[in-house]
Amino acid sequence: MEKKVTKIGVLTSGGDSPGMNAAIRAVVRTGLYHKMEVFGIMRGYSGMIEGDIMKMESKSVANIIQRGGTILKSARSKEFYTPEGRKQAYENLTKLGINGLVIIGGDGSFRGAKIFSEEFDIPCIGLPGTIDKDIAGTDFTIGFDTAVNTAVEAIDKVRDTADAHDRLFIIEVMGRDSGFIALHSGIATGAENILVPEKKTDIEDIIKTLVEKRGRQKLVNIIVVAEGDQFGATELSKIIMERIPGQEVRICILGHIQRGGSPTCLDRLIASRMGYAAVECLIENRYNVFVGIVNNKMHYIPLDQAIKRKQKINEEWMKIVRILSS
Ligand code: F6P
Repeated sequence: MEKKVTKIGVLTSGGDSPGMNAAIRAVVRTGLYHKMEVFGIMRGYSGMIEGDIMKMESKSVANIIQRGGTILKSARSKEFYTPEGRKQAYENLTKLGINGLVIIGGDGSFRGAKIFSEEFDIPCIGLPGTIDKDIAGTDFTIGFDTAVNTAVEAIDKVRDTADAHDRLFIIEVMGRDSGFIALHSGIATGAENILVPEKKTDIEDIIKTLVEKRGRQKLVNIIVVAEGDQFGATELSKIIMERIPGQEVRICILGHIQRGGSPTCLDRLIASRMGYAAVECLIENRYNVFVGIVNNKMHYIPLDQAIKRKQKINEEWMKIVRILSS
């Protein structure tokens, strides 16, 4: 018979994302509702290795649902990828009697959780906390909606000045390996072109389109580039200026502002639902899964499958960009 989970540890790991606090709050309060003890682990797996773990009460998570960042702080721990690091982490958890874990983070964090759950008898539940939305098996990840809305607001502002000067702007958004912020914010702001790491960038096609648009006096152009695209904003601007003499280009790199700020209603909602579901999983012995939402229903995938698959860019959406920006 499976052991009953009575003491839960919760941590946030990898790049922070708006809504992580709402998820922590949901885990803590659902755990307490079920008479469990809940512990907050600081700085992700690093705090697990260092034993930086504190008991959480209902008031520990008061007044945080609206705050960006994470009260538990976050880190990317290299040590956790060593057997010694994981053993130390396990010993720290067992000292406190922690026998269930909720990990809020991206695919790197799930990879750590998978190995840990295979080596030790502590079940792990993963919640997708990343602005990148690159995890398969969920329609949403905690933080994506806020990040993409931040990008939209910024691009709208850039468009005002682009229009005043008839300029081409290249705007770089976050996404080292993933183009979802670029794709969604680009469509929502009427970008001419969206460049993502998942697709090869066709420079000739970009030049041809810009020249054609100049020819018919379409002078305001916005190109949204994900940071992981093969050409960044800076290189792309150089190429365009070389290839189209007289073309004025400005670049704007949005950077980490996309990671901060108060989470949107959607992010607070999904974080609350997922945090609640994570504790329910531990109660129902649904162990070592990642919790997603698909078609507005909770969706559970074994951790080992979750890390194998990446969410794919929809080809039709790329086509929409082209048609709507003509
Ligand atoms: O994983 C989220 C993310 O914001 C990526 O989009 C970005 O490339 C990366 O994190 C940046 O990481 P860091 O804050 O460590 O520079």
